[in-house]
Amino acid sequence: MGQQAPQGKIAILMDGWDPRLWTRGFEACAPGVQVTDTLPAADPAVRYAVVWKPKTSDMAKMPNLEVIFSSGAGVDHIFSNPDLPEIPIVRIVAGDLTNRMSEYVVWQVLDHMRQGRIYREMQARSEWRELNQPAASAITVGIMGLGVLGQDAAFKLNTLGFNLAGWSRNPKEIEGVTCHHGQSGLDAFLAQSDIAVVLLPHTAETEGIIDHALIQRMKRNTPLGGPVLINAGRGKLQVEADILRALDEGLLMAASLDVFETEPLPKESPLWKHARVFVTPHAAANSDPDSLIPLMVQQMLDFEAGQPLSNLVDRKTGY
Ligand code: NDP
Ligand code: OXD
Repeated sequence: MGQQAPQGKIAILMDGWDPRLWTRGFEACAPGVQVTDTLPAADPAVRYAVVWKPKTSDMAKMPNLEVIFSSGAGVDHIFSNPDLPEIPIVRIVAGDLTNRMSEYVVWQVLDHMRQGRIYREMQARSEWRELNQPAASAITVGIMGLGVLGQDAAFKLNTLGFNLAGWSRNPKEIEGVTCHHGQSGLDAFLAQSDIAVVLLPHTAETEGIIDHALIQRMKRNTPLGGPVLINAGRGKLQVEADILRALDEGLLMAASLDVFETEPLPKESPLWKHARVFVTPHAAANSDPDSLIPLMVQQMLDFEAGQPLSNLVDRKTGY
């Protein structure tokens, strides 16, 4: 049996994602719901917008909009809108998405730690040779961003035996994780991390944070022959020319990048062909409509019943 339908009309506004999966998902989840994925003209009936990179022109067509739901955990795609109304923004916090992100992080950490790239190169040469194998306990994974996703990834890596460090804006105490915070804590964090996993949001403070100067401050003598970078946060956190330079200078051993300054990653980007870069197309944690829509419908019903919204974005910090 489906959920009760919210009274307000829902507009699905998505760029680069198939909005029909979401309209159909809402119709299946809450039969009778009013939902549209196009706004040919202003629609005063729309109370909720479910968005991924919404167009400014569409945002202007909902004069009675009450709540914006981000279809992703990140909300930078909403804040880039110049005429954002002063209404609540709810982001995704969901076990399904969190699990998917931790799968990606664990997959990449293990691949670097077990030297997957070198074994694949050896296989291409039919070369039978065992590589030196560091233990998980000899490796510290440093997580930049100790929010919902960073903490879950830390917990899962901890159970595999890795040492964990973390970096956030505010001080934290997390069992099994050596926590650092703020600009003053960044050097100690970097000095500890053999593999740096970036799960930060893109804000004015974090833009371009992964640049040559930061890579230079990363730990040099690691069991993997040099520091490794994994970025599944946002592309605008990284300066791609600096990552390529650091790889070629030997400052960075390898990188797994899921997100890019420009997406889709332009065909001519040298990152595609770099032997020590693993590229995925912003696919670390897919937003699955079937898992996420019931949570959104429940939030809408709670809102209509006068209950507070959860997972609200803080407009001041931008995440
Ligand atoms: P949260 O908001 O729960 O956590 C964000 C973390 O980043 C917090 O620990 C926060 O610190 C920290 N942070 C923010 N700004 C700074 C700063 N200036 N300096 C240091 N630390 C900072 O977000 P989630 O964990 O849910 O998601 C993180 C990001 O992952 C999303 O914003 C999104 O960009 C990305 N993402 C990517 C996906 C993909 O498929 N590639 C999928 C889903 C999300 P504090 O705890 O002190 O506030
Ligand atoms: C997200 C994303 O923010 O898919 O959830 O990047």
